[in-house]
Amino acid sequence: MTTPTARKRSSISDVARAAGVSVGTVSNVLNRPDRVSPTTRERVEAAIGELHFVPNGSARQLRAGTITTVGAIVLDIGNPFFTEVARGIEDRLAEDDFTLMLASSDEDPDREARYLKLFEEHGVHGVLVVPSTDDIEPLLELRARGVNVVLLDATSPVPDISSAAVNDVVGGQLAGNHLVAEGHTHIAFVNGAHSIRQCGDRHAGLLRALDAAGLDPATHLTEITASALNADGGEAAMRHLLATTTAGVDRPTAVFCVNDLVALGVQRTLRAEGIAMPGEMAVVGYDDVNFAGELATPLTSVRQPTHQLGYRAADLLLSQHTQGDRFRHEQVQFQPELIVRASSHAG
Ligand code: RIB
Repeated sequence: MTTPTARKRSSISDVARAAGVSVGTVSNVLNRPDRVSPTTRERVEAAIGELHFVPNGSARQLRAGTITTVGAIVLDIGNPFFTEVARGIEDRLAEDDFTLMLASSDEDPDREARYLKLFEEHGVHGVLVVPSTDDIEPLLELRARGVNVVLLDATSPVPDISSAAVNDVVGGQLAGNHLVAEGHTHIAFVNGAHSIRQCGDRHAGLLRALDAAGLDPATHLTEITASALNADGGEAAMRHLLATTTAGVDRPTAVFCVNDLVALGVQRTLRAEGIAMPGEMAVVGYDDVNFAGELATPLTSVRQPTHQLGYRAADLLLSQHTQGDRFRHEQVQFQPELIVRASSHAG
């Protein structure tokens, strides 16, 4: 098998040399073709084709002073929740002919910082960031250097930065209320680190639900921190719960998962161990991603308006651009909704 080698990218000077014209003429063909005679234009276009020349978009944007690229950093592109949010961002950006550069921080502040630097060096118009911690100081510094910033899936703690988020305290409460109403008095919560805003808020909401039902979390809640907020993390967390508890003695009868990917892994373990859902263990996820209702045991989940979230965040970023000084920063908050399915409710 031969390994393909990367072809060296042709430059505008290569095209000029091949066509026997100046760099300025090639530039005119690309940007102001009406200023070039048809024969010269044809010669330059033929050279462009032969050399597979692709103009450098960033350089062109910088020269023209119209940057049309926006960077977004989400926690994990592998999570369909963030893919759906990204689709909303992209749809809004496309309306104004802006394009999206997308990256995952993997909940790692250092990785987030590296992407912010790359985006800044690239000269993006602005950034949409799902912060990996509650320390937004680096984002404030970035903004002070002239890069527009909007917080995504987080509420800005300062009034002059816009944000679009979903009320996760209410979301956690909805899940907790539902499980309590289904008769559960010992609930497991497979969560992530509380320093991740979404995890802390969903936990706070669950505590509210337990409190309203008069259930002391010290004895009625078992929280497990997943090694990762994905299916493998959920699978390992449920294996740990099954290995360290006994059914009918100290094992919770329901599990609330911080997101649907984690719930997918939890369900995988329950199925592998022959544990009935919801009879022996009810399962509730969070996000209501596209596969939630399609699972072998359809998943009850707290729905987030993913597309709207991304769309609105991008809209806030572009509004700063079009309205300039007249722009008022906004903290937009959407409400979640509980979607009940067979994983937590026997029909
Ligand atoms: O990454 C953690 C979670 O935060 C995602 O699944 C989604 O729920 C987001 O809000």
